[in-house]
Amino acid sequence: KIRAAITAVNGYVPDYVLTNRELETMVDTNDEWIVSRTGIQERRILKGEGKATSDLAVPAIEGLLKKRGITAKDIELIIVCTSTPDMMFPATANIVANKIGATNAWGYDLQAACSGFLFGLTTASQFIESGKHSKVLVVGADKMSSIVNYEDRNTCILFGDGCGCVLLEPDTEGYGLQDSILKTDGAGAEFLNLKGGGSLHPASHATVDAKMHFAHQEGRSVFKFAVTNMADVVAEIMEKNELTSEDISWLAPHQANKRIIDATAERAGLPEEKVMVNIQKFGNTTSATIPMCLWEWESKLKKGDNIIMAAFGGGFTWGATYLKW
Ligand code: ACO
Repeated sequence: KIRAAITAVNGYVPDYVLTNRELETMVDTNDEWIVSRTGIQERRILKGEGKATSDLAVPAIEGLLKKRGITAKDIELIIVCTSTPDMMFPATANIVANKIGATNAWGYDLQAACSGFLFGLTTASQFIESGKHSKVLVVGADKMSSIVNYEDRNTCILFGDGCGCVLLEPDTEGYGLQDSILKTDGAGAEFLNLKGGGSLHPASHATVDAKMHFAHQEGRSVFKFAVTNMADVVAEIMEKNELTSEDISWLAPHQANKRIIDATAERAGLPEEKVMVNIQKFGNTTSATIPMCLWEWESKLKKGDNIIMAAFGGGFTWGATYLKW
């Protein structure tokens, strides 16, 4: 059987650090509230005119290609998972391909909010498993600062900008993506969304005045769904693959809230040494959180490690994947 293995991983975060202290000067909040409710201490922001999500993806991908010792021309497919595309169309994948010189690749964007990377990884793996492609880039990139209302304390403290990316290649020795369980529930749309600029609410002065071009979240409701569903889907994938907590080397969870991560780890019986957490430094970077964790933990990962990745996001979308490193 051909499986899709991650053969390289990389990431990129912009230099500017937005601290809780700085947020205190912008909205009615405080460091203690943010840290105790979310675990976030700071996040990175992409500053500067004309800078977009593709500008997060390009340095991450260029570093990945260098690590793997290949060129952009070797890439056959690029899937950019993002909720903050450079523009409505063309796809950010096209823009990225052009910027890096991936002239032999086709590509598209995939939108599943914070579950984007897991949806992208699973989709990409089909092209590897079928034998159609042998080098596929899965990119999780979001410039959340472009859709955050920095006057809304409910959301502006949560999000940051960043990118993580992986290269998928075929493996026939049992490594790579073993299983994935992905779910959606459109009834969740009302709790977490960005309504403006789509075909339902095309951009107008009214949509701008109503702040409909910013992300909107009913935090408490989303929290309840996230904490239950993420823990449930991790339990489900463990049971399906007959994995005990001892069998699992690492949990790479979406970084939305430290309390959600802790609850998921606890349900799975995983001690904190096995759980990748960097929310304190980067906040919620949406599609980028999981590959950014893999990037940060790369030097600790050993061949054959069993990694469970899990996410929950707007849509609602959620899921878990089981990967043998
Ligand atoms: N600083 C100070 N006080 C605040 C702040 C703030 N930044 N934000 C809200 N508060 C206040 C509220 O107004 C509220 O006050 P009230 O009781 O007087 O009304 C109080 O703090 C409690 O607010 P809650 O919303 O109940 O706080 P909660 O403990 O639920 O934490 C949070 C909020 C962090 C947003 C949490 O609900 C959460 O993490 N939700 C899930 C996020 C998530 O997983 N999203 C999915 C992925 S994101 C994506 O897909 C794009």
